[in-house]
Amino acid sequence: MRYPLVIGNWKLNGSRHMVSELIAVLRNELSIVTGCDVAIAPPMVYLDLAQYHLSGSQIALGAQNVDTHLSGAFTGEVSAEMLKDIGAKYIIIGHSERRTYHKESDAFIAEKFAVLKEVGLIPVLCIGESESEKKAGQTEIVCAHQIDAILNRLGKKAFESSVIAYEPIWAIGTGKFSAPKQAQAVHKFIRDYIAKHDAVVAEQVIIQYGGSVNTGNAAEMLTQPDIDGVLVGGASLKAETFAVIVKETAKAKLA
Ligand code: 13P
Repeated sequence: MRYPLVIGNWKLNGSRHMVSELIAVLRNELSIVTGCDVAIAPPMVYLDLAQYHLSGSQIALGAQNVDTHLSGAFTGEVSAEMLKDIGAKYIIIGHSERRTYHKESDAFIAEKFAVLKEVGLIPVLCIGESESEKKAGQTEIVCAHQIDAILNRLGKKAFESSVIAYEPIWAIGTGKFSAPKQAQAVHKFIRDYIAKHDAVVAEQVIIQYGGSVNTGNAAEMLTQPDIDGVLVGGASLKAETFAVIVKETAKAKLA
């Protein structure tokens, strides 16, 4: 059985004050919530502080990026071993914002995926099509291509103990929310595609949906059988809002 997972991706937002305040409220709101794994991914510079405030709670720590190298002369980078050292668990890679603004290629993202597996961290691989690709009917081709980069690098078991986040680019930060049935169809395609390589891995891989998820639309999305959780951007920056999404996820998946 797949356990639901909600991750808050803070992107380039936050402060020391926000880290301590948000986590305090979140711990309180979620203290009796069961049935859903939860993580927050603040900016790198706040990870250690976040881990300090999360200690003893059920909320896990995530990060938004990782370098492909484990150590050495790579100025400005953060390694998978360092992320593991400070207690991070889920590492977001392949986000469309990094693919676009930092020109990250599928091959580079596959290297990041490999290094995370090597040190025992959980990759959260973001995939998804742009608006024009969607209009051209290329959603499945784009997702398959992004998945292939990982399978070609790491083999058919690549997605064992891993997370995929389907984030249609046109839905990120735009308020445009994919129709749940439409998102379910893509999630099913992704799972079936992985099943062609390894049915057991496909059955257990967690596939999150991301893109303009909020308190008003999460519940319906989560009733879909292949949508195992959500990757939340903007709505994760308020503890109360994020907590509602976590509670709705747990409820929808228990039903
Ligand atoms: P929004 O929820 O702000 O649309 O962001 C989604 C996202 O990119 C999460 O990684």
